[in-house]
Amino acid sequence: MNRREFLGWVGVGAVASSLPVAIATCLPDSHNSANAETPLTNTSSTIAQSSGFKSVGTVAALDKDGQILNKKSPVGPVLVIRNPNDSNSLIAVNPTCTHDGCTVKWKKSEKMFDCPCHDAEYSADGKVLQGPAKKPLATYQAKIDGSSVVVKATA
Ligand code: FES
Repeated sequence: MNRREFLGWVGVGAVASSLPVAIATCLPDSHNSANAETPLTNTSSTIAQSSGFKSVGTVAALDKDGQILNKKSPVGPVLVIRNPNDSNSLIAVNPTCTHDGCTVKWKKSEKMFDCPCHDAEYSADGKVLQGPAKKPLATYQAKIDGSSVVVKATA
């Protein structure tokens, strides 16, 4: 092999060895694209969860049923309703009656929580309207995060 042939082979080799890199650079990288998009689609949820809010149900379920009752949510038993005085805000309470532990029910038409066991009544914000319960229902902070209803235990 003379010098000219040698340089020709080196040139072909250089082009051949850089071709995969050039092709990879031009093609969309599905692995990196997925990684780049995943945080964007979960950004609000990630922020909500990092600030202590936990998902307890969907907005669709809240609007379909008029409430979300989740006895095994990440923050404990929770009952979420739309605020009867401002449907853009949510109210979340621990539905465990403070009298003897029954689960209260939301009565939308009367804007109150009612306990089926001994007829205690609580206002929409959890305050006792009628005994025998003496303590208010525990409350949570609640808001809508995308398609999810998220709550956070109050400090
Ligand atoms: S358990 Fe609710 S009123 Fe008694």
